[in-house]
Amino acid sequence: MSAIKNVTVVGAFGTLGVPLVKALQEAGFHVTALSRAGSPSTPPAGVEVKKVDYASPEALQAALAGQDALVSVITTTATGEHEFGINTRTVPHPGLKAMLQSKIKLVDYLQEKSRENPNLTWTGICNSFFFDSIKRGSGFGFDLKTKKATIIDSGDEPFDVATLSFVAKAVVAVLSSPDKTANRYLAVSGTVTTQNQLLAILREETGGDWTTENVAATKCEEIGNEKMARGTTRPSGTSCTSCSSATARARPSRPPPTSSSASRGRMPGLPSKLSWQVYRSRLRKVALLS
Ligand SMILES: NC(=O)c1ccc[n+]([C@@H]2O[C@H](COP(=O)([O-])OP(=O)(O)OC[C@H]3O[C@@H](n4cnc5c(N)ncnc54)[C@H](OP(=O)(O)O)[C@@H]3O)[C@@H](O)[C@H]2O)c1
Repeated sequence: MSAIKNVTVVGAFGTLGVPLVKALQEAGFHVTALSRAGSPSTPPAGVEVKKVDYASPEALQAALAGQDALVSVITTTATGEHEFGINTRTVPHPGLKAMLQSKIKLVDYLQEKSRENPNLTWTGICNSFFFDSIKRGSGFGFDLKTKKATIIDSGDEPFDVATLSFVAKAVVAVLSSPDKTANRYLAVSGTVTTQNQLLAILREETGGDWTTENVAATKCEEIGNEKMARGTTRPSGTSCTSCSSATARARPSRPPPTSSSASRGRMPGLPSKLSWQVYRSRLRKVALLS
C-alpha cells in the first residue's frame, strides 16, 4: 500500500476535528477540510477548506480527487454516516445497537466495497469515552458547578477514557501505517478508571463537599429506551455515564496502560488550583494504584 500524504477531514472544526487536524499537520500530512455549504464553523488558519453538498456524489467526487485518505469525525447526530468511537461489530447492548444502526450499515457497506476493490480500505477507531468531556462540567455523571455526582450502580465499574489529543495521535498512527491498520477496528484507551476514583479526586481537589445520588444502570437503560422511543438520540438518562456503565459491564476489566496522552491547559469551571494536567496525573496515579 502506498504512503498516505493527502488527508481530507470531514468535521474538521468540531470537538475532535480541531485537535485531529493539528496532530495531522504536525505529523506532516497535507490536510484539507470538507465542510457543509452553510456551516457556521470558523476554520483555523492554514487549513484548505472545501464547502460541499454531502448529498451530491458529484460534488464529493470532485472534492476528494487526489486525496489518499478520508477521516470522518462528523457529528454523531447529523448523519451517522461514519465510524468513530465504538466497534459496532461487537456491541452487545440492544439499546446501543438500535442507536448505532446507521454506523453498523456503514461498516457493512465498507466491508463489501473493500472486498470488491482491494485499493479501498477502512479502519474503525474505538476510542472509548472522551475524557475531555469532564472539562465541560457535566461529563461522566459529575456536575462540577453544583458539585453533584450521579453514581451508576456501585461506581466501581471500570471504563476506558481517552483524551482528544490521544485519539488524534491514534489517527496519525493509523494513517502512518496503512498496511498494518487496514480493514479492521483498533481499540485505543488512555487509561481505565471508575466513577468512584474520579469522585475521590474531585473531592480532594475541589474541597470535598460533593453530594451524591445513586442510580441503577437498569434505571438509566429504562430512561434511555424511553428517550430513544421518543426519538431522542442520546440513550442515557444521566449524561454518558449510563453508557459507561453498560460498556463496563459488557467488557472485562483490564490492567490500566502505562502511558496516557499529553493535554495541557486549565479546566474551565474548576477552582484555579486544579489544572487539567494535575487532574490527569492524579487520575493516572489512582488508576495505576488500583
Ligand atoms: N467516545 C466518545 O466519548 C465520543 C463522544 C463524542 C463524540 N464521539 C464521536 O466522535 C466523532 C466526532 O464527534 P464530535 O463531538 O467531535 O463532533 P461535533 O463537534 O459535534 O461536530 C463535528 C462537525 O460535524 C459537522 N456537522 C455538524 N452538524 C452537522 C450537520 N447537521 N450536517 C452535517 N455536518 C454537520 C460540523 O462541521 P462543519 O460545520 O464544518 O460542516 C462539525 O464541526 C463522532 O463520530 C462521535 O460519534 C465520541
